[in-house]
Amino acid sequence: MSNSFPRPVSCPAKAFLMGEYAVLRGAPAWLAAVDVRATAYAPRASFGECEAVATPIVAAATDHVRRYLTGHARTFEAPAPSVDTARFHHGGRKLGLGSSAAVAAAVVGYYLRAAGLSVDDPEIRGVALRVATAAHREVQPRGSGADVAAAVLGGILRFEAGDAVAQDWPEGLVVGLVDSGAPASTPELVKRVLGARERDPAEHDRAISRIRAASERFGSALAAPDGGPSSRLDATRHACAEHNAALRTLSALSGAPLMTPALETIVRAAEGLSVAAKPSGAAGGDLAVVFADSQASLDRLAVRLLRGHGLALLGHVQIGAPGLREEALAPLSSRVRGFFAMGVASRRQRLTEATGIPSERFDELDAGGIDLSEAAHMIENVIGGLTLPLGVATNFRINGRDYFVPMCVEESSVVAAASNAAKMVREGGGFVAHADPPWMIAQVQLVGDDRDAGEVANVARGLRSELLARADAAHPRLVSRGGGARDVEVRVLDERNVVVHVLVDCRDAMGANLINTVAEAVAPTLERATGWRCVLRILSNLSDRRITRVTARVPVTALAGPGWSGADVAERIAAASHFADCDPYRAATHNKGIMNGVDAVVLATGNDWRAIEAGAHAFACRDGQYRPLATWSVQGDELCGDMQLPTAVGVVGGLTTTHRSAKVALDLLGRPSATELGRVIAATGLASNLAALRALATDGIQRGHMSLHARTLAFGAGAIGEEVDQVAEKLVSVGEIKPERAESLLRELRGQKS
Ligand code: MEV
Repeated sequence: MSNSFPRPVSCPAKAFLMGEYAVLRGAPAWLAAVDVRATAYAPRASFGECEAVATPIVAAATDHVRRYLTGHARTFEAPAPSVDTARFHHGGRKLGLGSSAAVAAAVVGYYLRAAGLSVDDPEIRGVALRVATAAHREVQPRGSGADVAAAVLGGILRFEAGDAVAQDWPEGLVVGLVDSGAPASTPELVKRVLGARERDPAEHDRAISRIRAASERFGSALAAPDGGPSSRLDATRHACAEHNAALRTLSALSGAPLMTPALETIVRAAEGLSVAAKPSGAAGGDLAVVFADSQASLDRLAVRLLRGHGLALLGHVQIGAPGLREEALAPLSSRVRGFFAMGVASRRQRLTEATGIPSERFDELDAGGIDLSEAAHMIENVIGGLTLPLGVATNFRINGRDYFVPMCVEESSVVAAASNAAKMVREGGGFVAHADPPWMIAQVQLVGDDRDAGEVANVARGLRSELLARADAAHPRLVSRGGGARDVEVRVLDERNVVVHVLVDCRDAMGANLINTVAEAVAPTLERATGWRCVLRILSNLSDRRITRVTARVPVTALAGPGWSGADVAERIAAASHFADCDPYRAATHNKGIMNGVDAVVLATGNDWRAIEAGAHAFACRDGQYRPLATWSVQGDELCGDMQLPTAVGVVGGLTTTHRSAKVALDLLGRPSATELGRVIAATGLASNLAALRALATDGIQRGHMSLHARTLAFGAGAIGEEVDQVAEKLVSVGEIKPERAESLLRELRGQKS
């Protein structure tokens, strides 16, 4: 039996944990499936999708699965699939997560499912594995097949001589992936490294044996029942050190740059923090895998790498992802043509189709999200409510993932401008965003005059462990969710004032309440030990330990417009950025344009926009002069934007869990974590800035504003349906954009019709 409309089928990416290269000589290797998925799906004509171009791997997978199906008297008649691998990309670069294996397995799974076979059935998964492995080997003959096994079977695997066995992952060993900054070609590196054996077989074999030993040691550490986290991590660190030493030897023998400077930096930084690190896969600069005993240790490494070296932990990937599986929906694409021109009902319907959010949920938006009785419980002296429009920006792609971005804002053109800029950024691969772990600062002010302030500060520093323990004791549930106190910092403000900061990981909460409790919980210990009085105990809204950095690379051709070449526009935007950098008067307006996007998402998702505003502007002043949060420069034929923003937002607690519109907004974003929401907010801010600068640096802001303003006036005059555009166009063409003119034009239009 075959289905008339085949279901989408997806497969995960993989990370090599240990045993690369040696696996090709029969040694055991350890792999983890990673929740970055390739999805094969029937192209959706209603989304304007046409059939994808068949790459060699898609063609090979199609050919092999066709032979299997026809050889087993099954139908082979599904439409050729589109294959989505956007999540494997970061901006314009593809990460080394085994996309070709995931694509081969997803395509094979798609056709098996379309022929009526269940991809959950272990026997069919076995078929998928055999067929996808053969297809993959045809295109990449030197592969071990381990990555295809991870794509089909998922989870954590031990792979040896073609056999994959599922493994449990032990408690207390946390894994992360760090982007080491450069693309690497696995087939090319493997060819060079294997070829180098001829040069010095003994030395080559010794290096391979060291990797085999590292892999076996790692495997025993994972399996050891009573090893405990610290000895497990110790064994993993030794295994990584062995592995890295062997890679350096293979590098010297083959001339292939396996341990790049960035990889060596990651390894050194990890060693300094008792974390283990090694390249994942063929090495050569693409990804490093890091092992730690806790999320906190991993986060400390992430902070050090990002701030010290510009290297980012991929905060959005999880290991142990499920293997081949059927999906309810095709991958979400936020690129919807004509969304602007649709009516509200059609927009909601399109969002339902794309996201699977039931249409009734959108009906909840009609009432504005809360009713009067709920409002009366939120603040004091309530007399009513105030509703603002909630719109959706399209075209956003951030770290390879598409988003419909909910924006709550009263200013016309903000949503359209963000969507338009996101479309330009998409042409350069989309936004790339990295976030700090969600650390907030609790401040405790110590005041006194009977001791030297430096001495008081030293006493406070000596209390580090006790303060961290007291902070954790104030929030046992936060600690059990992986958050908790991370560090203590002490500053002398003047001879009578010392301030103590306790840094706390708030996980998915914005954290204001958590942090205030911590500040109050640690204060008595500080007073007792220092003899000084604690006056204020409160969070800092300058949340500069919770920064999101977002970048965008826009091909200059995407910036061109009537009368303007892309190169000219790019130069003018860079000049506008420089203006803001030199002049606080301009920087304030530049940042206002950024906050148009930022606040709209913060508000839509029920977060505290005053906190975000306070943090953003204090951060903009961090070197003593108020400066632009985002800057733009021309690099070759690209316009490159870069922004850092404190993003103290949450997805649990407060309005995020009580306000119905905020809940719909978070559902639209796919129920993100707080750090993921921070990435979306920062990207929307950068998009708003790009749109504003492009308009300002070319035709000026008024032209676009006026046509949108004309629509608002037409609507205000009572125009409905297509009358809105007709009246607006007329208003712009007569050059008189005024309410009374809108009313008279509407009367004229209706008179003509009748
Ligand atoms: C208007 O809301 C925002 C702008 O003034 C921002 C800017 O000048 O960059 C257009």
